[in-house]
Amino acid sequence: MSHIRSRFDKPPDELVIKYTSSLQYDWRLHSYDIRGSIAHARMLAKQGIISKDDAEQIEKGLALVAEEIEKGEFRFKPEQEDIHMAVEARLFELIGDTAGKLHTGRSRNDQVALDFRLYIKEAVSETLGSIRMLQNTLIKLAEDNKTVVMPGYTHLQIAQPVLLAHHLLAYFEMLERDYGRFKDCYKRTDVLPLGSGSLAGVTFNTDRQFLADELGFAEVSRNSMDAVSDRDFAIEYISAASICMMHLSRVAEEIILWSSAEFKFIELDDAYSTGSSLMPQKKNPDVAELGRGKAGRVYGNLMAMLTTMKGLPLTYNRDLQEDKERVFDTIDTLVPSLKVFSGMLDTLKFKPKNMKIALDRGFILATDLADYLVCKGETFRNAHGIIARLVSYAVKNNKTLENLSLDEYRQFSLFFEADIKNITVESSVAARDVTGGTSSKQVEKAIKRAKEIACNS
Ligand code: ARG
Repeated sequence: MSHIRSRFDKPPDELVIKYTSSLQYDWRLHSYDIRGSIAHARMLAKQGIISKDDAEQIEKGLALVAEEIEKGEFRFKPEQEDIHMAVEARLFELIGDTAGKLHTGRSRNDQVALDFRLYIKEAVSETLGSIRMLQNTLIKLAEDNKTVVMPGYTHLQIAQPVLLAHHLLAYFEMLERDYGRFKDCYKRTDVLPLGSGSLAGVTFNTDRQFLADELGFAEVSRNSMDAVSDRDFAIEYISAASICMMHLSRVAEEIILWSSAEFKFIELDDAYSTGSSLMPQKKNPDVAELGRGKAGRVYGNLMAMLTTMKGLPLTYNRDLQEDKERVFDTIDTLVPSLKVFSGMLDTLKFKPKNMKIALDRGFILATDLADYLVCKGETFRNAHGIIARLVSYAVKNNKTLENLSLDEYRQFSLFFEADIKNITVESSVAARDVTGGTSSKQVEKAIKRAKEIACNS
C-alpha cells in the first residue's frame, strides 16, 4: 500500500517486490486475519477509541472482503506485500477512509502473530482428528486379528512369537504420544499476542482480555517483545509432526517389508497399490514409500525453522516471514499422510498362514525352552548355554527344535522331560501375561483401554 512508503522517494524495485511478498502463500491466513480484525474493531469501539459507527462500517466491509475471497472473486495483487495489506487495501476500496482507523493500536507484527496462532490452533485440531482416525483403524485391526500369532523380531531376526494385535497396538501407543504432543503444542499456541503492537505494547486503552474472549484464546501474552517474535508454537507443531511422521515412516517400512514376496504377511488393496510402467507383474507399495519419504520432507521443515530462528535478535525480523511455508507444507504433508495410512491399513489383507510358516523357521521357542529349564531348577545362564548348543545341533542336523526327539534333548540336559512338547507358540504367547505383554488377556485389556482413549478426545 502506497501510504506505508511515504518516506521513500522511489517505489520498490520490481525484484524486491517479488522477493519480499508473501501473498502467494499467506493468503491462506485470510479468514484468521479477518476474524482478528473484526475482534479488534469491536474492541476499539467498546473502549471508545473509535466510534460504534466506524466499527460497524469496518465490520461490514471486512465481511464483504471475506465473502469475495470465499467466492474466489477477490483479486490478489502481487504488488501487495502480504495478506494483511491485501485485506486492508480492499477495505479502503470498499468503505473509504474509515478503513484507516482499523489499524489503530495494532501493528502487523502482532497481527501476523495472531493470525498464525489462530491458524495453527485449527491445524492442531485437524491433526488430532486425523491421529484418532488412524488409531481407530489400528484398534479395529487388532480386534479383527486377536488370535493371529506372528513372529516378533529384534534386529529383524525372528525373536519370539507375538500376537499380531499386540504388534498393531504398539503403533497405537506411538500415536497416543503424538496426540499428547499436539495437545501440548495447542496449549502454548493458545495465547493472544494482539495488543503487543510493534514490540513495546500500545498507547491506547485497549482491552486484551476482551480480544482473547472474542477470539477464543485461553491466555493473554505477558511480554510484548516475546509475543511479536516468538514462533515456538510453529516449531512445536513441526517438531511434533516430525515425530509423528517418523512413526508413520516406521509403519511404512513394515508395510513395505511385509508386502514383499519374501515375507508375504500382507497383501495391499489394489486401491492402495501402484503398478510398474515396465514390469507387468508388479504391485508396488508406493503409498507407504511416499509416506516414508515425506518424513524427510517434514524433518527438513523443522531444520529450516530452527535455523531461521537461531540468530534472531529481539524482536520482529522479516526472517520470520519464512515460517509460513514450512508450517503449511508440514500440515499439508502430515494430515493427508495420516488419512491415507488409515485407508491403506484398513483395506490391506493379513496372511496368517504365511506368518505361521515364518514362525516355524527361526527357533522361535528357544527362550521358552530356556525358561522351561529354569523352572526345572537350572540357572538362566546355564539354560541359555544349553539351548544355544541345542540350536547349534539342530542347525547342523537340519532339524527344528520341534522335531528333535526327547532323547536328543536329554543329551543336552537331564532336566528335559516329556512335557517340553507342551511348549508351543500359543503357550509362549499366553505365558507373557505381564502388564504390557503379548498374552491374549493383556492384549484384550489393551484393546479395551485403547478404545476408551480413542473415544475420549
Ligand atoms: N508478512 C509479514 C510476516 O509474515 C508480516 C509482518 C510484516 N511486518 C513488518 N514489520 N514488515 O512476517
